This record gives sequence, C-alpha cells and structure tokens, in this order.
Amino acid sequence: KAGEQDFGERPQSLGAIGEAILGCRRCEIGCNGTRAVMGEGPASAALMIVGEQPGDSEEEQGRPFVGPAGRLLRSHLEEAGISDERTYVTNAVKHFKFVPRGKRRLHQNPTAKEIDVCRWWLDGERALVQPRLILALGASAARSLLGKTVSVQKVRGEPHRLEDGSELWITTHPSYLLRLQDHGRAEEEAKFANDLHRVSQRLS
Ligand code: URA
Repeated sequence: KAGEQDFGERPQSLGAIGEAILGCRRCEIGCNGTRAVMGEGPASAALMIVGEQPGDSEEEQGRPFVGPAGRLLRSHLEEAGISDERTYVTNAVKHFKFVPRGKRRLHQNPTAKEIDVCRWWLDGERALVQPRLILALGASAARSLLGKTVSVQKVRGEPHRLEDGSELWITTHPSYLLRLQDHGRAEEEAKFANDLHRVSQRLS
C-alpha cells in the first residue's frame, strides 16, 4: 500500500498497542505532545469501525468517539441495530492534529503521509481483532484501508474485499454531517443511515 512502513515486530495484544502508541513519534502529529487514543471494544468484534483521528474530547478523555461526532455515530448505530458488543471502534490516526485558536483547538485533516505512517498501528489492531466487516468513516479512514485516496461518494454503498478476506464498507464521516444544515443535512444523514443499515444486514 502507499507509504507502507514496517516498524519491526508487532505488539502482540491490543493492550500493548495501546501502550506503544502513547510514545509513538513517527510523524509530526505524534510529536505534538497530546495523548494518543487507542481503539475500544471487544477483541472478538465482528465489525471494526474506523474514524479519522481523535478530536478534542477524545484526546481529553483518552477514548474514541466520545465527542459530538461520536454521539451522532452512536445514535445511528443504535438505530441500525448495531450493538456495542459486536463493534470495535478505532481511528486511522491515533493522535489529534490541531491548530490552537485562543482557548480552542481546531481540527486539522491528517496528510496522506501521516495516514500511511499510522497504518502500522491500525494493521496491528486488524491482525488481532480480525473483524469480518470494516466500516470506514470518511476519506482518511478509506485511504488507510485501501492504501489510496478515493472519493467517498463514489465508493460508498458497495462492499470492497480486502486482502485478508474482510469486507470493507465506506461511508461519510459523522463530523461532515454535523457541518451540514437543513435539507442537505437531512439528505446526507439519510444516506449515512442507509449505509449503516446495509452493514447491519451483513452483520446478522
Ligand atoms: N472523529 C473521529 O474520526 N474519531 C474520533 O474518535 C472522534 C471523532
């Protein structure tokens, strides 16, 4: 895959990955001194959901998808009948990339290179969890999993077979939905819900 990096022996457990990412300085985001956020959920999960990177709340709490985007995601997962017990939630990039604006920290998209470097950790999680299904939220997660940049709107709605036999589904990122308004938001949220329902069907 693009930018593939080999950092030697892989950690043998999710706990070991969680420890190791805290000290990861292989890209500039890791060097900004924030706390890395590990994935969460059962190691036997059939579905792995991959976001982009932790946001402000996630970095503060050290847990993935606990902020506004996470709340929207979780309500849609519940609506689609996808339970927490079957789902492992993680991110393509483990550290929060931001620019300070007064007291706030404004999210910045990771570069392709940063996503490619951090893929080492996501691949480690995939090797341990071995999910049958993977749901990528947004373009960064899609790049991490496919190894190339794609248009989410073009590749959503159909399964993509990955090299380990798992089935990848791609949809929009909930943060994108949060930025839309009125009719556009309703329309995109309905498409998001539809994508999640299709994943739910594949899960059962
Ligand atoms: N957005 C993400 O992509 N991941 C999180 O963990 C939170 C928000």
